[in-house]
Amino acid sequence: MAIHVTQNGRLFHLHTADSTYQMYADEKDVLLHTYYGKRIEEENLSDLIYRADVGFSGNPPEAGGDRRYSLDCLPQELPSSGVGDFRSDCIRLRHQDGSAAADFRYEGYEILPGSYRVPGMPALYDGEEEQGETLVISMRETASAVTVRLFYGVFEKENVITRTVRVENHGKSEVLLEECLSCCLDFQFGDYDLITFPGRHAMERNVERARVGHARLEASSIRGASSHQCNPAVILCAPEATEDFGDCYGLCLVYSGNFVASAQKDQREQTRVVMGINPFQFSFRLEEGEAFDAPQVILSYSDSGLTKLSRQYHRILQEHMCRGKYRKEKRPVLINNWEATYFNFDGDKLAKIAEKAAKLGIEMLVLDDGWFGKREDDNSGLGDWFVNEKKLGSSLKELGEKIHAMGMKFGLWFEPEMISEDSDLYRAHPDWALRIPGREPNRSRNQLVLDMSRQDVRDYLLKRLTDILSDAPIDYVKWDVNRNLCDIYSHVHGRSGEVYHRHMLGVYDLLERFCARFPDILLEGCSGGGGRFDAAMLYYSPQIWCSDNTDAINRLSIQYGTSFFYPVSMVGSHVSAAPNHQTGRVTSFMTRGHVALSGSFGYELDLNKVSEEEQALVKEQIGQFHQYYDLIHEGDYYRISPPGGRFCAWEFVDRQRAHALLTLVMTSAEGNPVPVHTTVKGLDANRQYRCSYDNSIKSGKSWMNGGLTLGKALKEYESLLITWEAVE
Ligand code: DGJ
Repeated sequence: MAIHVTQNGRLFHLHTADSTYQMYADEKDVLLHTYYGKRIEEENLSDLIYRADVGFSGNPPEAGGDRRYSLDCLPQELPSSGVGDFRSDCIRLRHQDGSAAADFRYEGYEILPGSYRVPGMPALYDGEEEQGETLVISMRETASAVTVRLFYGVFEKENVITRTVRVENHGKSEVLLEECLSCCLDFQFGDYDLITFPGRHAMERNVERARVGHARLEASSIRGASSHQCNPAVILCAPEATEDFGDCYGLCLVYSGNFVASAQKDQREQTRVVMGINPFQFSFRLEEGEAFDAPQVILSYSDSGLTKLSRQYHRILQEHMCRGKYRKEKRPVLINNWEATYFNFDGDKLAKIAEKAAKLGIEMLVLDDGWFGKREDDNSGLGDWFVNEKKLGSSLKELGEKIHAMGMKFGLWFEPEMISEDSDLYRAHPDWALRIPGREPNRSRNQLVLDMSRQDVRDYLLKRLTDILSDAPIDYVKWDVNRNLCDIYSHVHGRSGEVYHRHMLGVYDLLERFCARFPDILLEGCSGGGGRFDAAMLYYSPQIWCSDNTDAINRLSIQYGTSFFYPVSMVGSHVSAAPNHQTGRVTSFMTRGHVALSGSFGYELDLNKVSEEEQALVKEQIGQFHQYYDLIHEGDYYRISPPGGRFCAWEFVDRQRAHALLTLVMTSAEGNPVPVHTTVKGLDANRQYRCSYDNSIKSGKSWMNGGLTLGKALKEYESLLITWEAVE
């Protein structure tokens, strides 16, 4: 049992293999957060809380004359708003009289077998090897009939604890829920850094690290999407933490819409981190008997640095979030026609690309944007999911069969959640788009967003997808989303405070029904590249197109940032043409291949236009893909040298520690170069390993402490794959 409750149902321990999370319901029924860190014995640590009369920090009624008891200073599980905790809060209620106050006190608990579900939203599920355990803590609001249930899931082996909140209104009068975050972590002592992953379209998930101080640090999105600009995953760590050393706490939100994660020190140098749905334009009306569920947060702790923390996230997401046939099944090497043709293709051109690809060993052709409706550019056609047979020169079925006859699978692009004003769908249903009556909407890529909160919209989309996918032999779908949300108004739900979230629930509902209807289709998520690269999407799509930027050198930092939370197997990554279409940079075919191999591998160029020598390299790269597939997709991942230095390197080691693969890419060059020396990690200290670079054999201990010096200088952007094999 990972969940232990003692002291008359007041002291809670959530134990994982290496960590403990402790809470204590004190004598005033305030649920205190007393510890999260390295695994400890079951001793009540609430005595570490230092109580003092802190000026201008008031006292709740039960404190009586005790001025040393203040909600403004105590570490808590569910800080609420309006009753004397002036720090960031998790929950705000507006009552019928207009007052805004919420004060929740402990009522009881239950332990449930297995992990819990979050209604309408993705969440970690029980795996074959490990089942979760669930603790539910009930709390009641002191002056209304609102209750909350705090859910804690424990995946002991994976070192993961999950949290979410369910708010229920049991009263006669309605209540407005104006904020409902999923999680708060309070740390009484210590200094911390916050690592966040900001970016932009085609330059996602940079790594930013800042010291948490008294000015609030915030990572957030109000774009109606998890976004390119910020990722819903943050790390709080000791200032001295490195890849291999120090306390690190991860918080990863299982949600694809507006979010906030913030960290701040309070007046007494305590650090509070909160995470959940962004309260921007959020207010949910709860009538009698209604409930609201917040999305799940996945917490994980590492006592020895960022690499271990990342590994814990990689494993939990692979084993308990990713679903379906392709969770374990080998993904095909694909060729996507987007950067090869953009909208300018016909059936013959596609067939030629496919023929060449098949000869070189590529296993699937993906037909991207432009095959439907009136869609010769990105100004029209979205919503009209009817095959443009004139453009293809055949039906989709015939095209699919032709591709299958070449021995390849066939995939298709969709952008279901969007609508062009120049489309039959919009002409028939203008009210299906999100837009505010009487106000011209903002256009982005000249398109509007469908109101996914509407059942009729979702039913239409599922029908169109189903008709197309049942009529043609399609093995894969790329599900794209190419703008963010604004002009928030639903013709059905009206009130803007609920629309963002109801829209997201609608997206999940459609994806869920889609996956149930087509369980064998490989789904690749996409949002202008990596604009919706989050844990929730992994529940539906085991791979996500990582970025619209296919430049191998820019990809080093994009894939590096992505690796902190998301497994490499999830990262869609392709070899494209040189000069690169996004940056104009020229890198060798070899380097492009080496970088793309660390992901769900494919090509995105016209292979009829590459040299014989490069075609031979395609064969070689596909050989490497098959050779290293298990190592890359299942092995342990190590960040070796971050981008930004002279070279960037990363490594995979299999779980038996018999094979390792290191990829190294030079990112700059200089005259009379000093040698390149790389660290090697993850080997068994006591085994002997042969290194492919120079065939030398040394002990794991020597490799890991001495590293490897490259005997030959490398040119700018040159790359190497180096392996270590255990020799018995
Ligand atoms: C954005 C995607 O990221 C691209 O790969 C491509 O599918 C285009 N959309 C098509 O419009």
